[in-house]
Amino acid sequence: MRTVVVGASSGLGRSLGIGLAHRGGKLALLARRYDRLVDAAKEAGPGTLAIRCDVTDPSSCGEAIEEAASGLGGIDALVYAPAIGPLARLVDLDADTWRRTFDTNVIGAALVTAAAIPHLTASGGVAAYLSSVSASLTPPWPGLGAYIVSKAALDKLVDAWRAEHPRIGFTRVVVGDCAGGEGPSRTEFASEWDATLAGELGPVWLSRNYVSGSLLPVDELVRVVDSVLRCDAAACVPSVIVTPRPPT
Ligand SMILES: NC(=O)c1ccc[n+]([C@@H]2O[C@H](COP(=O)([O-])OP(=O)(O)OC[C@H]3O[C@@H](n4cnc5c(N)ncnc54)[C@H](OP(=O)(O)O)[C@@H]3O)[C@@H](O)[C@H]2O)c1
Repeated sequence: MRTVVVGASSGLGRSLGIGLAHRGGKLALLARRYDRLVDAAKEAGPGTLAIRCDVTDPSSCGEAIEEAASGLGGIDALVYAPAIGPLARLVDLDADTWRRTFDTNVIGAALVTAAAIPHLTASGGVAAYLSSVSASLTPPWPGLGAYIVSKAALDKLVDAWRAEHPRIGFTRVVVGDCAGGEGPSRTEFASEWDATLAGELGPVWLSRNYVSGSLLPVDELVRVVDSVLRCDAAACVPSVIVTPRPPT
């Protein structure tokens, strides 16, 4: 399987890129931080491609997908992992933060998918998008409004792509708390959060049972995404939910 993982320089995307390669696929790893991608490609194994891509830049999306398709000899599967999740109460969110969030989490997904459509059409392929329990399974988490609204939009975007391209598989992967893998495969999702605000909001999320304290083992996420990508495209499941077991 010839797979493109976008957002593969850290966290879940990096874990998926390496994990899918170890399961026998040919991989292209895309993100902005090229040195990180080269390192991930080495860990993934010989033949893995590292390709710079900024999903907020339309020409970068198109060029990176073409480079991946030509390097892999086609595209059977696409995984979209990029997201930013600024921590701020809605009253404090400025327009630039809203735009950056939608550019990365929603519009980037649309642009990358549009560039990949000819290749996925040719292969009868599958595209999977990482979404969040916070957008569909829990009430909105205070402080993550922009992220959650953008993920809800991403969820609809996946349905909209399926409506126009029924012979390609489009699957939303609804993910619960997951730290990713070790070292550079660890999630960096919260790295820019204000510690004081996080200290105020974390206990609220816990008290409302939005987070359980358990973490999803990243290998389980890799296993589930690998199964999704191997679906019969025209019958591919529209969504899967991958959450940690509650604490016992
Ligand atoms: N961790 C969790 O518990 C959890 C739970 C539910 C859902 N998810 C979802 O899983 C996905 C990965 O999250 P994570 O926790 O692994 O976060 P992360 O460590 O921050 O990874 C985000 C990835 O997105 C890439 N990215 C960000 N902006 C980009 C841009 N403009 N162009 C290209 N790539 C860009 C980053 O690479 P560069 O900075 O190098 O570009 C990085 O590889 C997200 O969609 C998130 O919503 C995570």
